Amino acid sequence: MKKTILAILMVLPTLAMASGGKHLDEVDYDLHNKESLQSGARLFVNYCLSCHSAAYQRYNRMAEDIGLTNAQVTSNLMFAAEKVGETMTVAMQPEDAKLYFGNPVPDLSVIARARGADWLYTYLRTFHTDESRPYGVNNTTFKDVGMPHVLWELEGMKKLVNADEMQKHPGTAPKFEVISEGQMSAAEYDNAMRDLTAFMVYMGEPAKLVRYELGVYVLLFLVLLFLVAYPMKKEFWKDIH
Ligand code: HEC
Repeated sequence: MKKTILAILMVLPTLAMASGGKHLDEVDYDLHNKESLQSGARLFVNYCLSCHSAAYQRYNRMAEDIGLTNAQVTSNLMFAAEKVGETMTVAMQPEDAKLYFGNPVPDLSVIARARGADWLYTYLRTFHTDESRPYGVNNTTFKDVGMPHVLWELEGMKKLVNADEMQKHPGTAPKFEVISEGQMSAAEYDNAMRDLTAFMVYMGEPAKLVRYELGVYVLLFLVLLFLVAYPMKKEFWKDIH
């Protein structure tokens, strides 16, 4: 009996994922790519930080991690803070946010851990026109989201063309038709969103980069240890048969 219950509990999460499963595009980001992280950081402070905070992220920590000097960060990426040791807070008050957008604006420090990278990447690329919504846009990944399409100047605007099909078969990928072009081509926008996603993944766990580096040293150490230990083992055992 216990085993049956355990087995059911174990498959439940997979079932839940399979049934409510929205289509997500896979994102192929690289946390070792400093250029990609820098481009993501630029997008983040220019387009997201006006509403969202990242209260666990310090500017100077970010500078070191993504390969910028503090001076570069101060002159290019800091609009809201005074000192580079400050965190990425935001001027907007929570009450105002609720008034403007109907919902509080969540902090994005650990959003990549809460939602997953594929979700974020898909979300940022699935805004479409919807006259019934307050800002004239909706999102197929986050239905009736309170956030406007803040990147419309870059992406342009598009219309959802297979809403009925998506409703009938929940796993269907959305199909869009471009209504107005943005400053970026579709491929450029995808790359930009990959960078922005990579930056949010980095933010969710800044120590990940340090861990990667540490991992290399640990492996090197093990190789060295082997080079010493193996001859020693041979020496110890050579007279015993
Ligand atoms: C004009 C203000 C505004 C800007 C600018 C903005 N957002 Fe939002 N965002 C919101 C609001 C409001 C919500 C909450 C929506 C809701 O709960 O309905 C939200 C929600 C989100 C969510 C979903 C959070 C969740 O609940 O899982 C993500 C992810 C997100 N924003 C990312 C971004 C990114 C990335 C940028 C920069 C490209 C950005 N936002 C810029 C207002 C904004």
